[in-house]
Amino acid sequence: MNQPPNRRILLIDDTPSIHEDFRKILMPQEQSNQALDDMESALFGETSKPQAQAFELHSAYGGEEGLALLTTAMAQERPYALAFVDMRMPQGWDGAKTIEELWKVAPGLQVVVCTAYSDYPWETLLERLHGHDRLLILKKPFDNIEVQQMANTLANKWDMARRASLQTAHLEQLVEQRTQALQVEIAERKLLESQLVQSEKLASLGQLAAGVAHEINNPVGFISSNLSTLDSYFNQLQQMLDAYQHAESHLPPGEPLEQLRALRTKLELDFLKEDVPILIRESKDGIGRVVQIVKDLKNFSRVDTDQTWQFANLQQGIDSTLNIVASELKYKADVVKHYAPLPDIECLASQLNQVVMNLVVNAAQAMGPERGTITISNGVEGENIWLEVADNGCGIPPETVQKIFDPFFTTKPVGEGTGLGLSLSYGIIKKHRGNISVSSEVGKGTTFRVVLPIRQTAA
Ligand SMILES: Nc1ncnc2c1ncn2[C@@H]1O[C@H](COP(=O)(O)OP(=O)(O)OP(=O)(O)O)[C@@H](O)[C@H]1O
Ligand SMILES: [Mg+2]
Repeated sequence: MNQPPNRRILLIDDTPSIHEDFRKILMPQEQSNQALDDMESALFGETSKPQAQAFELHSAYGGEEGLALLTTAMAQERPYALAFVDMRMPQGWDGAKTIEELWKVAPGLQVVVCTAYSDYPWETLLERLHGHDRLLILKKPFDNIEVQQMANTLANKWDMARRASLQTAHLEQLVEQRTQALQVEIAERKLLESQLVQSEKLASLGQLAAGVAHEINNPVGFISSNLSTLDSYFNQLQQMLDAYQHAESHLPPGEPLEQLRALRTKLELDFLKEDVPILIRESKDGIGRVVQIVKDLKNFSRVDTDQTWQFANLQQGIDSTLNIVASELKYKADVVKHYAPLPDIECLASQLNQVVMNLVVNAAQAMGPERGTITISNGVEGENIWLEVADNGCGIPPETVQKIFDPFFTTKPVGEGTGLGLSLSYGIIKKHRGNISVSSEVGKGTTFRVVLPIRQTAA
């Protein structure tokens, strides 16, 4: 930034004597000055007189020649600060045309038009050149001091403009760097935030599941053991009843017999004997289902072995997850399963369950008013297993498809979607060194495909 001041001046004039005059004014003999200065400082001590710096004057005798000098100077990165241009040059370009051409090459060049008279009104000239802010007019005959001062002032102006533009460029560069740094920071924060939400979501689900499983397990335990006992007690009662019934047939006719028969009819004893075992069996089924739900909850959140890599059965995970989200699916879609035999895979089972849950719930939410179908298939492919969740819902438009894995991208109404399901799923699959991809057609449906390595480490 600290370049020496630019004192280079271009003079374009077809009269040779003018060049001599300018040379005398702008480049006075330095030696004589130096000798005088030396004497002065010898007599009066150090001089404090500010010295005007010398100029470097280059001569051209026509517009075209001037342009050639300027072009070369620009190419050598030694620009002129200003040019004095004669207005009237009968051969070749006149002053106005020359200035136009000079500014095409060096728009920052300060220009002084020298003239005794002009072929244009000044307003027209300024209008034509768009040069109100970089053009001065010097009328001949001129005073030396006028030329000197113009040269000094305009050279300084050129320097200041250069400094300002360097400063601006530097500032722009700083702003650009800072913006980039901020963008990186924002992206990192978004990622961190979504990871935080993921771990919180997992942790709270896990805790909830653990709590529910624990609370339900005890009562379920005694209800199911009581039901078994009740079943065997009722068997015994039934034997007793049969014995009574048998004895009854041997009673002599009379009042007791009539009373027994009336009571039996009133209590519908035959129906009770049939129905009680059915009730007990149904209750056993019901409690069996509760036991399964508790098991699914545990399996889903893997509360016992949370966050550890283990070999697990993916299909079992899918089934547990389907049971968990059954109420979400019930009125929206039928689930069709195409399972192929799968080996256990090395995974964070509860996290894979999360992925399945997100895909299945998204599929259900993509259904319109008509009931749809969600097809879950899987299979083995070399060292990997694959899983597909396909729906015949609304589909995803091509312009949206690139965004669906972005954190917080959602097309669902406020309160319904947080836009995290797929970005979390993406993170989980990447953690498993797997891949998740999507193909979709608007109005037809969407298929998500997940590919996962069977083992995380080489065998
Ligand atoms: N099966 C699908 N069919 C159609 N669009 C889908 C499907 N799955 C995802 N999308 C689109 O991708 C967007 C992002 O899905 P994502 O699961 O990440 O968030 P969400 O479902 O909107 O909210 P969240 O899952 O956090 O409750 C959805 O809003 C939806 O527009
Ligand atoms: Mg979702």
